[in-house]
Amino acid sequence: MGVFATTDDPGSTGHEQVVFCQDKQSGLKAIIGIYSTALGPALGGTRFYPYASEEEALADVLDLSRGMAYKNALAGLDLGGGKAVIWGDPEQIKSEPLLRAYGRFVESLGGRYYTACDVGTYVADMDVIARETRYVTGRSVEHGGAGDSSILTAWGVFQGMRAAAEHVWGDPTLAGRRVGVAGLGKVGKYLTGHLLGDGAEVVATDVNPKALEWVRANHPQVELVDDTAALVASDIDVYAPCALGGALNDDTVPMLRAKVVTGAANNQLAHPGIEKILADQGILYTPDYVVNAGGVIQVADEIEGFNFERAKLRATRIYDTTREILRLADDEGVPPAVAADRLAERRMAEVGRLRTIRVR
Ligand SMILES: NC(=O)c1ccc[n+]([C@@H]2O[C@H](COP(=O)([O-])OP(=O)(O)OC[C@H]3O[C@@H](n4cnc5c(N)ncnc54)[C@H](O)[C@@H]3O)[C@@H](O)[C@H]2O)c1
Repeated sequence: MGVFATTDDPGSTGHEQVVFCQDKQSGLKAIIGIYSTALGPALGGTRFYPYASEEEALADVLDLSRGMAYKNALAGLDLGGGKAVIWGDPEQIKSEPLLRAYGRFVESLGGRYYTACDVGTYVADMDVIARETRYVTGRSVEHGGAGDSSILTAWGVFQGMRAAAEHVWGDPTLAGRRVGVAGLGKVGKYLTGHLLGDGAEVVATDVNPKALEWVRANHPQVELVDDTAALVASDIDVYAPCALGGALNDDTVPMLRAKVVTGAANNQLAHPGIEKILADQGILYTPDYVVNAGGVIQVADEIEGFNFERAKLRATRIYDTTREILRLADDEGVPPAVAADRLAERRMAEVGRLRTIRVR
């Protein structure tokens, strides 16, 4: 075990702690990034991915852990922001010893960081990691876990969309609106159900024929289009990106006819400045990390002993948080993405500061 690299200056990113973990025998190379523990232990998933270089892995963990601090702060959780990456191809190197070695590193942080699933890691992996550490969530139902996090993610996205509809059209409902869902995966499918239940028309697309088949069989009233470009250019009121990141980019934004963008995908803005272009086009964008927090709310609830109704109630409050952000954005004359960042920073500063009051 040992350190396999150091950053030039991790302090310059604003992170509290960046830990490099290596276990040569099992092939583990992991980086745990803790951006902030101002609100509580840092929570964020472990991404297992074949990065091209150590620099790329480091850049990803720094970026993702910062994002989690903002997401957790606005979700109202008493949790800070962290994330971890395991560098390598999970298909090739994932093993019990590797996951358990990783679990020991998580344990060594003494509860400053809680891990969970992300790209390349699954509930079953969390159960293996849990054999070495208490600081793991997103576990299987048999082990007291919450199961599929996409259920509350979709519910939260729907709540954020209701708040956006109210802001733009005066009523917190999608009834009579045409909503374009890009990506009919775990979240997109549940979201489609909520939208139809609310009286919306849904037009959708996916690259996976199985996802299309599922929709044809379960929701035959959904109109399917060839691809995201066709969806974006069609006559929709709301665009819901529920596939990959970067959905809002220099190609899609000029074509977009929707008045509202609310979706589950992480990192929807392809580059800084897109939020301003959307605002200038009169399109209301609800920040992804605000509306897609239902999943982290679900896994965070597990830390107390999972209670679905309690977690759902908290995910429902994404409606109130989105409203507050949209109001703040109007008051301060900034795009909602900027208002959301300000609100998260305010909570981290104001609540984090209370820890300076000695209690014993
Ligand atoms: N699952 C969660 O709890 C959760 C929580 C927060 C954020 N998210 C984010 O939401 C998004 C969806 O998550 P998911 O769990 O539903 O993933 P998923 O893999 O189940 O679904 C993604 C779907 O998008 C489709 N897709 C991929 N590329 C596409 C393209 N170019 N055009 C159209 N469809 C395309 C895939 O075929 C798949 O059906 C991801 O960005 C994820 O990071 C998910």
